[in-house]
Amino acid sequence: MIILNTIEEIREQVKKFKNEGLSVGLVPTMGYLHEGHESLIKRASKENDKVVVSIFINPTQFGENEDLDSYPRDLERDTIICENAGADIIFNPNKEEIYNNDFSTFVEMNNLSNELCGKSRPTHFGGVCTVVSKLFNIVKPDKAYFGQKDAQQLAIIKRMVIDLNFDVEVIGCPIIREKDGLAKSSRNSYLSEEERKIATILNKALNHAKKIIFDGEKNSNIIVEAIKEVINKEPRATIDYIEVVDSVSIKPIEYIEMSVLVAIAVYIGKARLIDNFTYEV
Ligand code: PAJ
Repeated sequence: MIILNTIEEIREQVKKFKNEGLSVGLVPTMGYLHEGHESLIKRASKENDKVVVSIFINPTQFGENEDLDSYPRDLERDTIICENAGADIIFNPNKEEIYNNDFSTFVEMNNLSNELCGKSRPTHFGGVCTVVSKLFNIVKPDKAYFGQKDAQQLAIIKRMVIDLNFDVEVIGCPIIREKDGLAKSSRNSYLSEEERKIATILNKALNHAKKIIFDGEKNSNIIVEAIKEVINKEPRATIDYIEVVDSVSIKPIEYIEMSVLVAIAVYIGKARLIDNFTYEV
C-alpha cells in the first residue's frame, strides 16, 4: 500500500490501473478510522481490483463554531487499518492541494440538504458535495462507498451523482455498531466515560421505535414522541432532531406508506451524535 499526497500522483496511478483494465473503488473518509470505515474498505476491496481510501478533513463541511480544529487524527493508526482491510492507496492531500487560494466554485444542493442535519448545519452538505465531487473528479472511481450511518449524506450523494452525471456507482453500506449498540463514530472519542454510557440511549430509543412500527404504528408524530420519551429520560441528552422522512427525498412524512428513514441527532455533552434506521414497507 502507498500513501499519495498530490492530485497529480493519484491521477497518474489511477490512469495506470485503468490502462491495465483494473477497476477502482473509492472510500472517502476524514480519517481516525474505526470498524465502520473498515467495513467500507473491506467491501470495496472485495468488489474492486484496486481500492483508494481518501483521508481528508474537509474544512468546507464544518461550520464556524464546529470541531474542525479538534477533529481527531491519527494517520499512523489509519495506515495500519487501511492496509489490513485491503486498501491499495491512501490519498492524503493537504488543505492547499484541495482548495487553492482562489477557490470559488461550490456544489450546492436544494431540498435534500435543508432537512435533518441541514437545519442545524446549513453549510455542511454544500461542503460535502463539493469535496466529494472533487474526489470523484480526481480519483475517477468505478464505485464509491458510503455508510448508512450518515443516511442523509448517502441520499444526497446518490442524488448528486444522478443530477451531475458522475460516472460512478454509489454503494451504501450498513451501520457498524459497538457491542452495546452505539453506532461507531470518530466523534465518539469526544465522550467522557460517563457520557459514553449515556450515548447508548440513541440506539435504545431507535430500537423502541422500530418495535412500535413493527407492532403496527404508522403515525410519524406518535413514533417521534415515543423516541423523545426514551431520550428525555436521560437528562444529559439534548435532542437536536427526531424525524421520520422519505428515505430517498428526505422529506418529512406523516404516515409510513413507503420506505422511510427514522433519523435522530442528540447532543451528549459537547458531542453531537447521529443515528438512524430505515424501514422498508
Ligand atoms: P467520515 O465521517 O470519516 O465517514 C467516512 C465514511 O464512513 C462515511 O461514508 C460514513 O457514513 C462511514 N461511516 C462512519 N461511521 C460508520 C459506521 N458506524 N458504520 C458504517 N459506516 C460508517 O462522512 C465523512 O467522513 C465525510 O463527510 C466525507 C464523505 C469523507 C466527505 O468529507
